Amino acid sequence: MHEPAEILKSVEGIAREAGDILMDYYGEVHHIDYKGIGDIVTEADKAAEKLITERLESRFPDDALLGEEFGMSAVESDNCWVTDPLDGTANYAARCPIFAVAIGLLHNGAPVLGVVFDPNTDRMFSAAKGDGATLNGVPICVNAREKLDPIGLFGFGSPILEMLHPFIQQCGKGRSLGSAALHICSVATGYFDGSLDLYTKLWDIAAAAAILQEAGGRMTHPSGSPLFPLSPDSSAYQGYNVPFLATNRKIHGECLRLLEENREK
Ligand code: IPD
Ligand code: CA
Ligand code: CA
Repeated sequence: MHEPAEILKSVEGIAREAGDILMDYYGEVHHIDYKGIGDIVTEADKAAEKLITERLESRFPDDALLGEEFGMSAVESDNCWVTDPLDGTANYAARCPIFAVAIGLLHNGAPVLGVVFDPNTDRMFSAAKGDGATLNGVPICVNAREKLDPIGLFGFGSPILEMLHPFIQQCGKGRSLGSAALHICSVATGYFDGSLDLYTKLWDIAAAAAILQEAGGRMTHPSGSPLFPLSPDSSAYQGYNVPFLATNRKIHGECLRLLEENREK
């Protein structure tokens, strides 16, 4: 078991290096491959993940690694590093400056460390279990809103907006930045009251989940069942969807009730 607080700085350094790679390629992307309908990958995603993988492998050779582009390593370990080298690829490819690098550590399937770096605004969100969450070294926490409010901000994944999910109409001001990691960090920082996404994968949420947890927030499956700890045979490690509801904790019950009511309609 690592001492998360002791290794946090070095993981922040890796995220910053990966962010530099993204900024080097920004506006210069030549190769866009389709992984599926509406799901793209650029050479920058791969170059950033290669850097992160090399750095983590050399510093933590006994740990397992899962990355969005290169999948799961062959190492078996209680520790699993989960990386999204570029969360917000569609924004990135369109030169819209909203994207982030996300590196998380799961210990026995539970988030214990997370770093989300936004190179456009030079914002480093980070957390180590038991040590609180910070933004550029300054402690952050979720906001104090006790009830859903018409002026509260709430993040949604774009497929939910496309479906015009009825829950959106009850959630104040809907926002869809194009990066699930930044949505969850926006809840952790108190900008957003909550965020809902149904089509996210483990690498979209693992790092930010550690940050939200330390900032006092709550994250579950939209049905209310716990997301973590993952069992060792969880399909999340194979890249299956991990839908989530992330909130400031206070409004979590209200959101779950509304989601349940909307499911029944
Ligand atoms: C996507 C973003 C988006 C979320 C999608 C993800 P990517 O990640 O996080 O906000 O709604 O489900 O796939 O493809 O840009 O790494
Ligand atoms: Ca992602
Ligand atoms: Ca990605």
